[in-house]
Amino acid sequence: NLGGIIVSLKTPNKDGIFEDIVLGFDSLKEYFHNNSYFGAIAGRYANRIALGKFTLAGNTYSLAQNNLGNHLHGGIKGFDTVYWYIEENPLANGDSSIILKYTSPDMEEGYPGNLKVEVIYTLTKEDELKIDYSAKTDKTTLVNLTQHSYFNLSGKQESTVFDHQVVLNADRFIPIDHTFIPTGLIESVEGTPFDFRKPKIIAENIEDNNEQLGYANGYDHCWVLNGGENEMKFAGAAFESASGRSIDVYTTEPGMQFYSGNFLDGSIKGKNGVDYVKNAGFCFETSHYPDSPNNLQFPSVELHPEKMYKTSTIFKFNKAKSF
Ligand code: GLA
Repeated sequence: NLGGIIVSLKTPNKDGIFEDIVLGFDSLKEYFHNNSYFGAIAGRYANRIALGKFTLAGNTYSLAQNNLGNHLHGGIKGFDTVYWYIEENPLANGDSSIILKYTSPDMEEGYPGNLKVEVIYTLTKEDELKIDYSAKTDKTTLVNLTQHSYFNLSGKQESTVFDHQVVLNADRFIPIDHTFIPTGLIESVEGTPFDFRKPKIIAENIEDNNEQLGYANGYDHCWVLNGGENEMKFAGAAFESASGRSIDVYTTEPGMQFYSGNFLDGSIKGKNGVDYVKNAGFCFETSHYPDSPNNLQFPSVELHPEKMYKTSTIFKFNKAKSF
């Protein structure tokens, strides 16, 4: 129930051997100090809001500045730290599904409106993890939810993900400043290390001499996905050739943060006593763009009482056609 955290996800390698492909901990206790958001649902606003400040319906709001002076992943008591109520979700087609529910009270972490959130995790017969998010508010508020699992498809969490191939369905990405806040521009990936339109291994350009990679110490950026803002579309994929494992991501969201685990530094002992070295896992965080409340040119993250927040993301395993 804590944080909606996915603690383990096992998929077969090419020899049919199931291994865990997500980072995390062996005990609940360790998750209470989970500053890396392993496996968690991030919200009420996943990703960053500059200086934790925004204006909504003429009112100015101040949120916790919990990351380099900015607001990150919902603040001190983000959705990754709360206790979700969990129900079984029997489906006629026999897919295995649960509903996670959480009501975030008005002004919790500084956000206006009582927000009723539901997240449905479904394991489908097509080897997918499907995540359906919905939310309702009683006052105009901001919502931007994501799933923060770190993947390492090799089954060897002591190694980096540098040999994983990645492809992203994005012609453009969102450059940031040295505090990870968008500059406000949307730039072409053409001729940059951010071009993943054709598959390449993560290692290929990650250490290039590039200002954006320098700010983030690797990849920690939002890609602007090609395709309609609210329609289900291919977002990207990853493939690890030694194991033969892959993930395809589909989403209704307009963006995906590809984070290459740059803040991991070997100081966290994860599952099976493994030290999580830098780049031991990567995240594909589907969502709206960072700092959207302060960039009105970005798709809106406002939720009004008469509307329903609804997004879906699908992680499909071992079916990738892109490689
Ligand atoms: C997100 C952010 C990263 C980092 C991780 C958690 O991916 O974009 O900068 O904060 O969460 O460590």
